[in-house]
Amino acid sequence: MAIRKIRTIGDEILAHNTKPVKKITPRTSILIGDMLDTMYEASGVGLAAPQIGVLKQIVVIDVTEEGNSPIILINPKIIELSGEQTGHEACLSVPGKSGIVTRANYAKVKAYNEHMEEIIIEGEGLLARALQHEIDHLSGILYVSKVEGDLVDTNAADAEEE
Ligand code: NI
Repeated sequence: MAIRKIRTIGDEILAHNTKPVKKITPRTSILIGDMLDTMYEASGVGLAAPQIGVLKQIVVIDVTEEGNSPIILINPKIIELSGEQTGHEACLSVPGKSGIVTRANYAKVKAYNEHMEEIIIEGEGLLARALQHEIDHLSGILYVSKVEGDLVDTNAADAEEE
């Protein structure tokens, strides 16, 4: 497995649509492993395939502090959203910045796992936010288009909170 280069805002691949995965090939498995390695290396809570330059519908998420509970989503579709949360959001493709985004507080997603078995993932709070954020990436949508107010420098935001 390997760390891949994370594409950053301004790279037009991040604005592209993605194609569904039809079957898991050895190459797909390597890609998923590399996505996990790349997400953990960058201390992110989620990564979508376009962020490493691959226009496929694959997302990895891990919102746990231990970083030992990866969720792998192939061809994910949001099937239910409810409630509302407003909070800071950031993205590995927009380094050093964060912004305030309002999203649903609950999300239910239908997807396939790395064995192409159908799965349902439900989440609230941070997991719901990560699901919505990562699935947006598959349609070429970055959170910056949903930010209320200005993007702020992450260090400045941290300093403010302290
Ligand atoms: Ni992102």
